[in-house]
Amino acid sequence: MKGLTEKQIQKVEELLSRMTLEEKIGQMNQAATSLVGGFDVPFEELIEMMTDGRISKEEFEKIMSTAEQDFHEDEIRSGMIGSFMVQDPVKANELQKIAVEESRMGIPLIIGLDVIHGFRSVYPIAIAEAGSFDTDLFERTASMAAKESRAAGVAWHFAPMVDVARDARWGRVSEGPGEDPYLGSEFARAKIRGLQGDRSSTENYVAACLKHYVGYGAAESGRDYNTVSMAMHQFYNNYLKPFAAAVDEGAMTVMAAFNDLNGVPCTVNEFLLRKTLKESLGFPGFVVSDANAIRECVVHGIAEDEMDAGIQAALAGMDMDMGTSIYVKNLKAAVEAGKVPVAVIDEAARRILSVKMWLGLFDNPYVSEEAMKRYETLPDSHRALALEAAEKSVVLLKNEGSVLPLKKEARISLVGNLAQSREEIIGAWAMSWQEKDCVPILQGMEETFPNLKYFPCGGPEGDISMNEVIAAGDWGDVIVAVLGELVSMSGEASSKADITIPGRQRELLEMLMHTGKPVVLVLMNGRPLALEWEYNYVPVIVEAWHLGIEMGHAVARVLSGEKNPEGRLSSSFPALTGQCPVYYNHMNTGRPGSKSKFTSRYLDAPLGSLYPFGYGLSYTTYEYSDLKVAETEDSLEVSVKVSNTGERGGRETVQFYMQDVTATLVRPVKELKAFRKVELEAGETKTAAFTLPKKEMGFYDNDGVYRLEDGLFRIYAGGSSKDCLMEEVRIKF
Ligand code: GLC
Repeated sequence: MKGLTEKQIQKVEELLSRMTLEEKIGQMNQAATSLVGGFDVPFEELIEMMTDGRISKEEFEKIMSTAEQDFHEDEIRSGMIGSFMVQDPVKANELQKIAVEESRMGIPLIIGLDVIHGFRSVYPIAIAEAGSFDTDLFERTASMAAKESRAAGVAWHFAPMVDVARDARWGRVSEGPGEDPYLGSEFARAKIRGLQGDRSSTENYVAACLKHYVGYGAAESGRDYNTVSMAMHQFYNNYLKPFAAAVDEGAMTVMAAFNDLNGVPCTVNEFLLRKTLKESLGFPGFVVSDANAIRECVVHGIAEDEMDAGIQAALAGMDMDMGTSIYVKNLKAAVEAGKVPVAVIDEAARRILSVKMWLGLFDNPYVSEEAMKRYETLPDSHRALALEAAEKSVVLLKNEGSVLPLKKEARISLVGNLAQSREEIIGAWAMSWQEKDCVPILQGMEETFPNLKYFPCGGPEGDISMNEVIAAGDWGDVIVAVLGELVSMSGEASSKADITIPGRQRELLEMLMHTGKPVVLVLMNGRPLALEWEYNYVPVIVEAWHLGIEMGHAVARVLSGEKNPEGRLSSSFPALTGQCPVYYNHMNTGRPGSKSKFTSRYLDAPLGSLYPFGYGLSYTTYEYSDLKVAETEDSLEVSVKVSNTGERGGRETVQFYMQDVTATLVRPVKELKAFRKVELEAGETKTAAFTLPKKEMGFYDNDGVYRLEDGLFRIYAGGSSKDCLMEEVRIKF
């Protein structure tokens, strides 16, 4: 495996030569703390019983109070567990000590955890951070997360999630970098560099885990875990792209997705795991299943029983079983019955041992006392980076009448429960944050605007009441309404059939609009929302997502103008839920949507998205001119002038797109090929440029063959996928 010394490779082989079959299979087993005692059903069943009302919440809590945590020490001691999920460094060291000093082979555990957007210093959810279009930022935040988590004993992140997602009904759009394969690829590469790149010390890097391989974001009807069917040209040109880029960048592990792809669950899909990932892409690390996914292959209907599922998964190239123990219970018998060649077990164990060796776990398996204390108080530099990421991720969607930025002395009525919440700014999958680190919007606003009154009034759940606001009688100069979704309304198992602002928040918004005061809507949400009503009636809309621990300061800095908003949308926003999936890089069809009836459109919805991919406003304005496309032997040299035509400096996200106008397969109306962040003072003009290698102007066909076809191409440049200059060029490859 690249990145290992010859000596390390030999050490892996030497270990393998001494390991028993059971010990090799033990490395293929990933476990987590489980709860035992107090009840005679599996913990998952207990959760189901509470969820479906078979037991009350009180009964559940009573049973739980008798439960004990099982850390599976005996299985670790007997070499039957290769990886463990735990986020406490003291416990991690205890379990590691058993593995290293009490098991026969002394092989360290690889401790893994879902560190998706920060460990202690939680930064924006990926859909938001991707909207900064700042690859250097992507890398720096990942590096910070790696350092913080390694100091807690976590050497493996189940991140980055790089699922291309076009359907905002799917709750997991919050976890990934949006709808575009190129932005997703650049995000993935930067995250791999950030997580794995600084190998100056084993305290600075972790193993990344690309997930969820593959096509999970295309779940039918946006319903989580649902079936996925797609033409293979879509697979190669969209969904596989970020994974291929990240493998090329050196990703060390991959997690297979829950879904089936064209009828074969990814967990047992040999075409995906062996042929595509390990052979075609040359992936050197190991593949882990998603939680319980091997067992679920029986439910999928692709395996007769757990033994059959385990055999199919191992043969397909699944190296590690997350959470079912099916491998340790069945693979030895399967090998002895000749159903699984021992070479399959050797390959999986070799890949796993190689990643542990690459992580330096054999030499440094433990967390030092000093490391454990290192982040008790967050370093200013980490908090500053969380703030930088947060404020770069805010997208200004609408600013009618230039209500924003607000003057510091403005008399502000701040409305909405979400504004005071600490846990609701954190976002999906943050597991190691601490309340004391969090800056809610209310705090940030109070520190910035001295004449502020706060009215909780209501939020995504429960009632709303304007009584307090009405009793106050005085609205001040402007109302800032913080509305949107709870963290629990996006992320895993959080698909929605209606993605308008939930609960009675729209009613609250209407009442606020009736005051006659200007209303600034600040959205806290984990997915694109259907904003037709807000788009038509609310003068100012700020997309603030779930920005992490520094959300309060970031929002206040943007509303006050201390930070000129520079975020752009990494995912299109629909007008109505019924438009989903809606995305910019769509096919033209033979009847592109227009005002004419017999075209690709809805009778009851506007054409296209409300706010398109790449869109975002600023407190200044930018103009594009002079797009030039010069052809060289093996590339196109593209340049465009961008001017700051407003009153203040800002950072513009210059986007370059391409269209292959005629090809042997229909191609998208636009494909993002590059982006540049350009700092411009008021009145300043700069040239943004990029080189487009001709070999990157092709596409994969349904057989996975990459095709470069002569013909007409259009090159676009602009400040969003919708508003661009365009030049045509005819290419002969
Ligand atoms: C979950 C998620 C996956 C996560 C894993 C471990 O079900 O699908 O993203 O990494 O289990 O928590």
